[in-house]
Amino acid sequence: MEKNKWMGMFWIMLVFTGWLASPALAKDVVIKEPPKSLDKFYPPAAKEPKWIQIMHKMSGHYGGIFMNMKVKDWENVDKHAQGLADAYEEASKMVPEWEEYFDVKAAKEFVTAAKTHDPKEIGAASKSVGKTCGKCHDDNLVAVWTKYHWPSVEHMKLEDPIDEKEMEYGKYMHLISNSFKGVTVNFGDGKKDLAAKAAKDFKKRYMELKSTCSKCHTDQGVKHFFVGESVEKALDGLSEELAKDKPNPGAVWKNVGIVGSQGCKKCHLTHRAYAVFQEIWEDPAEAKK
Ligand code: HEC
Ligand code: HEC
Ligand code: HEC
Repeated sequence: MEKNKWMGMFWIMLVFTGWLASPALAKDVVIKEPPKSLDKFYPPAAKEPKWIQIMHKMSGHYGGIFMNMKVKDWENVDKHAQGLADAYEEASKMVPEWEEYFDVKAAKEFVTAAKTHDPKEIGAASKSVGKTCGKCHDDNLVAVWTKYHWPSVEHMKLEDPIDEKEMEYGKYMHLISNSFKGVTVNFGDGKKDLAAKAAKDFKKRYMELKSTCSKCHTDQGVKHFFVGESVEKALDGLSEELAKDKPNPGAVWKNVGIVGSQGCKKCHLTHRAYAVFQEIWEDPAEAKK
């Protein structure tokens, strides 16, 4: 594949090491940006998510074949087999870059197999079609979710409660990250007073993240997580300990640990993976780093 085709791609290497560590067992998962031509089957270009609709159509017919086969309603088996083949052929023409994933011949053979009314033949023919569904899903589902379903933080702005400066979400992350280090590094270096001051600013900056949740969530209940009581308590505990003449290092690090794992880490595990892919697709140069 020529070089520029690799641009905009993101690689995840899942290397299965362990008791049978061998390069032959390495498995690569590639999260590749979906082709542009898919845009027209999703909002805002399309009124409705047409790609998902044709998926439901195929899936309904596919299920309909087996449901009716069980009760020997052969008329409906034939109807759904034809319906599947038609929808499948239609889908195969929607995204030229994905044409290869489809095996239209197999779908037509499935219709012929259905007409035998022999469950063995129907089962076998369904497998050749089903395989093609699974292959495309394995390759493209996560990429499509990233591009068309996961809301981007790219245009979100936050105001720093300390400096009252407005900034992008990613920049704000660097700010709270540095603010957090202002606590941990200063305390580690024995500069207790600086750490105590940094902890106050850090708490304000951290809790400001609460203002962002409603940009994507309507359920206020999500605020129990990451920015909820347990992290707030740890932030308060941190400040209280650092305000003492002789802070107890065990108590300081314990609270630092809670913020890091219940706050930063857990939020990153739920929200950051998609943002990483989106950012790389936004700026192909990133992919080479
Ligand atoms: C060329 C790629 C491709 C092929 C072939 C394909 N799919 Fe899909 N399918 C997708 C993608 C991409 C999505 C994710 C759509 C989304 O979430 O916006 C999807 C989603 C789905 C969904 C879930 C829809 C939802 O509501 O989230 C179903 C069900 C489905 N496909 C069924 C099938 C069946 C059955 C076949 C085979 C007969 C098939 N697909 C073949 C790409 C494909
Ligand atoms: C850029 C959009 C965005 C922002 C901002 C955002 N989230 Fe989410 N979050 C999502 C999406 C998308 C999901 C996946 C499921 C969904 O849509 O609820 C999710 C899932 C979650 C979940 C898993 C449970 C659930 O309801 O799905 C929690 C908990 C959560 N977010 C908490 C938060 C909190 C707390 C904030 C604010 C500090 C926040 N989120 C800010 C987009 C966002
Ligand atoms: C409400 C969820 C949430 C919380 C809590 C959170 N982060 Fe993040 N963080 C994100 C998201 C989403 C991104 C991706 C931003 C982007 O790609 O622009 C991110 C990105 C980052 C980045 C990389 C910024 C970049 O430009 O790539 C750093 C560093 C970071 N976070 C540090 C932290 C630290 C340290 C904490 C805890 C003190 C923390 N974050 C808490 C959601 C969160």
